[in-house]
Amino acid sequence: MTVCSERIEMPLDAVHEVELELRAAGVPSPRVDAEILVADVLGIARSELYSSSSPVTAYERERLDELVRRRRRREPLAYILGEWGFRRLLLKVDERALIPRPETEVVVERCLAFLDNFVQPRVLDVGVGSGAIALAIADEHQGAEVVAVDSSEHALSLARENKERAGVNGRVSLVVGDLLSEVEGPFDLVVSNPPYVTPEEYDTLQPEIRLYEPYEAVVGVDVGAKVAASARALLRPGGRLVLECGDGQSAALAEALRSLGYADVVETQDLAARERVVEGEWRP
Ligand SMILES: C[S@@+](CC[C@H](N)C(=O)[O-])C[C@H]1O[C@@H](n2cnc3c(N)ncnc32)[C@H](O)[C@@H]1O
Repeated sequence: MTVCSERIEMPLDAVHEVELELRAAGVPSPRVDAEILVADVLGIARSELYSSSSPVTAYERERLDELVRRRRRREPLAYILGEWGFRRLLLKVDERALIPRPETEVVVERCLAFLDNFVQPRVLDVGVGSGAIALAIADEHQGAEVVAVDSSEHALSLARENKERAGVNGRVSLVVGDLLSEVEGPFDLVVSNPPYVTPEEYDTLQPEIRLYEPYEAVVGVDVGAKVAASARALLRPGGRLVLECGDGQSAALAEALRSLGYADVVETQDLAARERVVEGEWRP
């Protein structure tokens, strides 16, 4: 008789072990990340971890070890999973572009609220990255035609792949260029989530951002105000500008919009009750 010495590992045992490993590596939310990684490898929903009675196979354990190694090196969970939810879309994400953030969903919300009255609006997204804003607008407003620009060819190649996945029927054009220099108006809406972390703040950011996300997608000074200044030449009268900004930057950005001639300037909070979106109407 042969005695099998291999240990049978159940999903929750694996979660517990991974949690300890991630905690030791300083990962900020080790339990949640452990659950997400184990569920991903097993191909089940996170909630099913608590009822699953299938042991982890040797092959799954090997895959899990590889993902945990990456997370221990502080690679963002989104890049490890390769996909990330943004509004109704499941976007491909990797080091070519910034991971779409929840506060940017509020930016899209504000854009859609404005576009509600339009049948076929022309929209410009400055700094498209993975495609999050441009594709979500095209996905949720069936008549919107979106031009989306980025200075990074890497980001644009990812946005192109996400455009295919989103199936937005040729209503999104991707353009390489510096801010608004390569696009022609007029637009009903200009939206941007520009890089807005100052070089000083950058050094204090977590390793997930500093080691993996593109520097040019994160760091920028007064880029929002530059977009606001240039957008005046491209917006139709009555058109709207919607900008995301960093925590603590909204009052100064709102003031910049007013001094550039925008009216009806509004600041909107994100889900954490911080003013992160500033918008205004172009009334020449
Ligand atoms: C904060 S990310 C936003 C990405 C995406 N829109 C999102 O919300 O997830 C800023 C993007 O602006 C792009 N960018 C930075 N400077 C730029 C410039 N001068 N002209 C055009 N795009 C620029 C970066 O490459 C990056 O993709």
